[in-house]
Amino acid sequence: MSPYRTAARAIVVITMLLTYSCFAQEERWERRDQWQNFPRIFSAMDVQEGSVVADVGCREGYLTVRLAGAVGERGTVYGVDIDAEALERLRKNLQETEISNVVAVHSRPDDPLLPDSVLDAIVVVNSYHEFDAYREMLAHFLTALKPGGRLVIVEPAKASSRGDSREAQVAEHRIALHFVLQEVREAGFEIVEALDPFVERAHRSDEMWLLAARKPSEP
Ligand SMILES: C[S@@+](CC[C@H](N)C(=O)[O-])C[C@H]1O[C@@H](n2cnc3c(N)ncnc32)[C@H](O)[C@@H]1O
Repeated sequence: MSPYRTAARAIVVITMLLTYSCFAQEERWERRDQWQNFPRIFSAMDVQEGSVVADVGCREGYLTVRLAGAVGERGTVYGVDIDAEALERLRKNLQETEISNVVAVHSRPDDPLLPDSVLDAIVVVNSYHEFDAYREMLAHFLTALKPGGRLVIVEPAKASSRGDSREAQVAEHRIALHFVLQEVREAGFEIVEALDPFVERAHRSDEMWLLAARKPSEP
């Protein structure tokens, strides 16, 4: 086969794969909309039009994209992740959907690299259990939030492993609410609400809980 034909075939195959992966992601996100209850996450964050928020551990942006719509053109979403490839996929998604109010941040494992005292809310979904340096991350969240700003954490857990050690649960990509409640309190946050369970992940046979906390207001 001529080199031109080979190249043309390769282009057709790559285009088909890209189109398929695009549709596959759209379908995955639409399916997730049916159980994730992101509007309830946004109300726990107290998201308003014009809010400045961060999605830490955003991966390719399922929640970031939805937050961008909720805060509108006057608002800003920081999509934060330590994984450069995930951020590339986020940037591609933002380009394709013509979203311009998201700032992609390639962060460090112990620092989300967010600006000080400007955030109305930070959300962490299915990522907190991956933070090895969770104490440092919580300290940075406190610095990045405005007084009264919200921190909302949504994580998977399983009733049957609730009594296991933190390490054992994290190894299974889960963490029980009681560990995080204590860690968030110790970091200096006030608890606003805790829902356990919050939603069911039928496809994984487990549940997710939701914790909303607040940076104390200045006296
Ligand atoms: C299971 S994914 C969840 C992605 C997204 N929140 C969602 O629910 O679709 C966890 C993400 O957290 C990111 N992550 C892990 N540790 C992190 C850290 N210390 N700071 C920022 N992101 C982190 C990973 O790179 C990964 O993209």
